[in-house]
Parts: sequence; C-alpha cells; structure tokens
Amino acid sequence: MILVTGATGTIGSEVVRLLTARGEQTRAMTRDPAKLSTSTYGVAADFADPASLDRALEGVGTVLALTAFGRELAQHDLALVQAAERAGVKKIVKISAFGTGETTDEKDVRSWHHPGERAVRESGMAWTILRPAGFASNALMWAQTVRAGEPVANMTGQGGQGIVDPRDVARVAVEALTSSAHEERTYELTGPEVISVPEQVERLGQALGRRLETVAVPLVAAREGMLASGVDPFFVEVAMTGYAFIAQGHAARLSGDVEAVLGRAPLSFADWARDHRAAFE
Ligand SMILES: NC(=O)c1ccc[n+]([C@@H]2O[C@H](COP(=O)([O-])OP(=O)(O)OC[C@H]3O[C@@H](n4cnc5c(N)ncnc54)[C@H](OP(=O)(O)O)[C@@H]3O)[C@@H](O)[C@H]2O)c1
Repeated sequence: MILVTGATGTIGSEVVRLLTARGEQTRAMTRDPAKLSTSTYGVAADFADPASLDRALEGVGTVLALTAFGRELAQHDLALVQAAERAGVKKIVKISAFGTGETTDEKDVRSWHHPGERAVRESGMAWTILRPAGFASNALMWAQTVRAGEPVANMTGQGGQGIVDPRDVARVAVEALTSSAHEERTYELTGPEVISVPEQVERLGQALGRRLETVAVPLVAAREGMLASGVDPFFVEVAMTGYAFIAQGHAARLSGDVEAVLGRAPLSFADWARDHRAAFE
C-alpha cells in the first residue's frame, strides 16, 4: 500500500491519479476526505496529530511525504517520518525544494526542507528526495490579472528559474515510489530552460493568442503592498528573500534529472501554458 500525503494538492492529486491508473494500491491522505473523488480511497489525518498519522499509516509500505508551505513544514516533516518509522514503513519519497540546505536563514525557503531531508536520510527506510524548482502552476496566481486584461506584476526582473511542470514532478515521484532504482538518490527537478517572468508571460500570451504585458514592481513597493493587504510580515520577508534571490540570477540553474528518470525531455512552460490556458480565458 502506498500512502500519498498532500493528496488534494497540485503534486499529490496527480500522483494519486497516476498510481491508481497503474493499478497500485493507493491511499490518499487529507484533513478532509470529502475533497477527494468518490473513487479515491482516502484517509483523514493531520500532520499536527500523531495519532491520526498512525491510523493513516497502518499497513502502508511506501509513503509520499508532501508537507505544505508554511511555518510548520519542518515540524510536519519530522512528525511524518517518526510516524512512518513507528508503522514499519519500508520506503519514503520526500518532495523537497530546489536549493535545500544552501542556507540556514529561516526567511529563505531553501532552509525549510533541510530538517525533513536529514530525518529521511537518517531513517532506517529506503528513501528518495525530489527537489523541484518553481512550479509552472504558480502562474495560476496571475489568472485573475490576465483575465482582467491587466499587466502581470514582475518582482524578479530578468532573473530566471528552471520552471518545472508539476506533472513531471508527479511522474518522477511515481517512478521513485514504485521502483527500487531511485533509492538513496536526491534529484533536482527542473524544466528544459531557464525562464524569467516576462518570458513566461510571453509564452502564456502565445498560448492565449494575444499579447500580454508585465509591469516591473520594485521590492520596496511589493513589500508595502503585501503588508498593507494584511500578509503576515514573516511571509512578506520570505517572499522578498525569494524575489531577490531570483532577480540576482541565483536560481538560473538546470538539471538533467527529469530526463534521466523519465527517459524524455522535461515539459516546457509553453507546454503547461497550452494545457492550462482555459484558466486564463
Ligand atoms: N510551488 C512551488 O513552486 C514549489 C517549488 C518547490 C517545492 N515546492 C514544495 O512543494 C510542496 C507543495 O506541494 P503542492 O503545491 O503540491 O501542495 P499544495 O497544492 O499547496 O497542497 C498542499 C497539500 O498539503 C495538505 N496539507 C496541508 N496542511 C496539512 C496538514 N496539517 N496535515 C495534513 N495535510 C496537510 C493539503 O491537504 P488538505 O488541505 O486536503 O488537508 C494539500 O493536499 C511544499 O513542500 C513546497 O515547499 C513547491
């Protein structure tokens, strides 16, 4: 039995779909199983409730560990690894993030997955760690702006990232969950090109058949705007740290790991935009 945590999210829902299509015995974990389709075998559990994790892990041999963006991410990772060890799980595949371990600054998301990665590696379980770059699906946050015909705010200048299609992250996760070929490996998952926000918006415009614009927003203005709209000051600083990192070109790196695992080139942002254009129309 494979337990998929984060099963109602972007990656987890695709992993559940792919595993089910392969005929793998799959259990989808969420705090609210009513969110799952009726054909999905679901279990209610919360990373903050160890007893619920114990119930979710009964009879499970393999786990996809996907904890959500937030202050509790590392704590949730540790709770899940400990519960998996108690349950006698044999293998764990952790969704981490590109650049993990390169800093200890808590305002930098590259520090957040570090304790969970270490716990996974030090556990007695077989493990695989996946470190995806920024997801193509983050562009969905522009949908309302694009539909309104307004320019997309750009806080990262010409800085690019190896934007990855979450469908590729899910496919690599499924390979790691179902084959022993990826154990004790840490993979960096990127798309085929380093791409900036203006380039992403241009590709999105090509998919929609119309020209889209961006507007450069200085970080000072972005910070003020987020604080004024009530965003938790900690997360405002997390966002600013991330924007500055990308703008300075530090995220402009590619990896061949998607191709090495899947045996084909990674999907591009243009592929993602073509397949998701309805969200912007
Ligand atoms: N977005 C990016 O660009 C990017 C890049 C690299 C790495 N990542 C990493 O990818 C992960 C996010 O993946 P995603 O975008 O697929 O997630 P997502 O769409 O944000 O979904 C989050 C999932 O976590 C579950 N969840 C949240 N709190 C929970 C709790 N307390 N107990 C149990 N389940 C809980 C949610 O389930 P319910 O609400 O149904 O309970 C949901 O299924 C994060 O670890 C992030 O650091 C993201």
